[in-house]
Amino acid sequence: MELIYLDYNATAPVHPAVREKIRPYMEEAFGNASSLHAAGRKARVGIEEARALILKLLNDPRGELVFTSGGTEAGNLALRGVMENSRAKGNHLIISAVEHSAVLQPAQALQREGYEVTFLPVDKLGRVDPEAVRRAITPQTVLISIMHANNEVGTIQPIEAIGAIAREKGVLFHTDAVQSFGKIPVDMAKLPVDMVSLSAHKLGGLKGTGALYLRRGLKLKPQIVGGPHEHNMRAGTENVVGIVAMGEAARISVAELNDGTIARIGTLRDRLQQELLSSISDAVLNGDPANRVPGTLHLSFLGCEGESLLMALDMARIAVSTGSACSAGSMQPSHVLKAMDVQKDCLQGAIRLSLGWGSTQAQIDEALLRIPPVIAQMRKTPKA
Ligand SMILES: Cc1ncc(COP(=O)(O)O)c(C=O)c1O
Repeated sequence: MELIYLDYNATAPVHPAVREKIRPYMEEAFGNASSLHAAGRKARVGIEEARALILKLLNDPRGELVFTSGGTEAGNLALRGVMENSRAKGNHLIISAVEHSAVLQPAQALQREGYEVTFLPVDKLGRVDPEAVRRAITPQTVLISIMHANNEVGTIQPIEAIGAIAREKGVLFHTDAVQSFGKIPVDMAKLPVDMVSLSAHKLGGLKGTGALYLRRGLKLKPQIVGGPHEHNMRAGTENVVGIVAMGEAARISVAELNDGTIARIGTLRDRLQQELLSSISDAVLNGDPANRVPGTLHLSFLGCEGESLLMALDMARIAVSTGSACSAGSMQPSHVLKAMDVQKDCLQGAIRLSLGWGSTQAQIDEALLRIPPVIAQMRKTPKA
């Protein structure tokens, strides 16, 4: 049975063009980018080409890009880098309650260290109210960090409005665009945002590579110290292969946004949504039906338990994610669904189906044949 991969928000398969692009960097251009000989210089060119390309795709060629080990490190660098650099200005940070742990956890760690942190609530669709951001700002506020698109439910935040308030109040604004870049426009000529986190493996690049975009001249306290790499912002020999792969994956993703591929993925997602909701009783859509990234579908199947459903779908060769994380043997409902005040019986049977560059009509047709019987079987099975 063919695997139907519907977990692109967890990670996307490496794009074939990315594999081709990086081959020379594992062969003749394997050098350390800090080395002065030809192998090193070729590696340096690969890195700088990727940097210039990603900045161009973000529509800010004059911006700065610090390559990191992924979206998590980018989020940590943004939060800690700004807060620790701005002690003289203030100690207050604002984030939303639905952030990925890449932002949530560093914010909680800063709070334990004595910083003031406000966790803003969201509405039932998962959206932050920009006016709530305005009300939360104090003279001590240094940074606001609100994600662009949510990784679980796909809800897109009103970051233009939030950024405008941040600008008006003179507060820095970071957005985690790991789930939005390449899926919806991320145009730094239009967005009033100072820092953006990106991750390569959601785009068809390699795991373990990401970047933090910065407006030109923005100063951060480096979090990894050592050599002078990445303009003294992030020490460590650069991951040349990962960075080159990220550039190529970003180029392809933004091209797909402009050539109708992403719109096609949105249409496939909408069909999957409509047919699952009409063929399966007691199924509920989570997230904002209108303001949502095109590939994400988050559903609750009442009377099911997410982890068991994931396993049963895995047996049927369909890869999805659950909205719950199993910690210490007990099921913890997702903090995102809890913040959205999703009704109690929808918390447990929640799964995320996410589509991406390799998703096809034939896969969705086949998924629509395979999923309903799995749910029906699960609902018949007595609970332990
Ligand atoms: C919204 C969001 N932010 C950050 C990350 C972390 O990125 P990485 O896996 O590259 O550390 C993820 C990954 O799941 C994510 O979805």
